[in-house]
Amino acid sequence: MEKQNKIALVTGGSRGLGKNMALRLAESGVDVVITYHSKKEEADAVAAEIRQMGRKAVAMQFDAGDLSAFDAFLEQLKAQLQAMSGRQTFDFLVNNGGMGGTIPFAQVTEEIFDRFLNVHFKGVYFLTQKALPMMADGGRVINISTGTTRFCVPGYSVYASMKGGIETFTRYLAKEIGPRGMTANVLAPGPIETDFNNAAIRSNPEMKTRLASVTALGRVGEANDIGGIVAFLCSEQAGWISGQRIEASGGINL
Ligand SMILES: NC(=O)c1ccc[n+]([C@@H]2O[C@H](COP(=O)([O-])OP(=O)(O)OC[C@H]3O[C@@H](n4cnc5c(N)ncnc54)[C@H](OP(=O)(O)O)[C@@H]3O)[C@@H](O)[C@H]2O)c1
Repeated sequence: MEKQNKIALVTGGSRGLGKNMALRLAESGVDVVITYHSKKEEADAVAAEIRQMGRKAVAMQFDAGDLSAFDAFLEQLKAQLQAMSGRQTFDFLVNNGGMGGTIPFAQVTEEIFDRFLNVHFKGVYFLTQKALPMMADGGRVINISTGTTRFCVPGYSVYASMKGGIETFTRYLAKEIGPRGMTANVLAPGPIETDFNNAAIRSNPEMKTRLASVTALGRVGEANDIGGIVAFLCSEQAGWISGQRIEASGGINL
């Protein structure tokens, strides 16, 4: 019988870190479903690039903050998986998609709080819960957090609080899915030059220089510093790592 490829679902795979994760997973032999929030063309281009590499790929719309649409999304995902690979299950869930914002504590409204809560915490929590029955035993969950749960950046109180919740959730998840041979880990990138938070790093050379100066490796990160770690966490070699927070920040604020 033909050996079936592993399949990953990467949320927010149209740009930035998620795109790099999808490409590096594909390089390592994994078929990929990526999601986008609004940038369909970018997502379709990433899927096309993956197919050119000889792997299977599709792009689907998904809003991590719209929990009422999760059941319909997962039904569509089943149909996509069936069409793509002849099965309705997948192996790796990478909860990556989301937005940033630099908002001083005093200016955080309940509306802003709820948006960050839904996209970065509640959405990740319940997508994982609803997706688990569709995941094969031995699968992996990787939740993307941030260096700013360890060190503080003014204006990140609401964003980093939700990511902190994800870190606690991931340890509990690891414990509860362990009996299925599954692992759950957090990958926490330091500052990476992407479109994130209105391209805060790219559009602010002073900030970039300052961040580089407090980083052991002397620069800010690039998307390509991150994707390979996700591919590794989904590899057989990483099967004994579970319930861990792995920070990939070039050694910032040591
Ligand atoms: N860049 C950094 O410095 C950094 C550092 C630590 C952690 N992170 C985390 O890494 C992840 C990816 O960040 P990035 O730098 O790649 O950002 P990015 O370049 O801005 O890309 C964000 C991705 O998430 C998608 N997205 C946006 N809102 C979403 C929503 N409501 N639901 C689902 N997906 C949504 C976007 O889709 P569209 O393209 O369709 O808009 C895009 O694919 C985020 O969880 C972020 O918190 C980033």
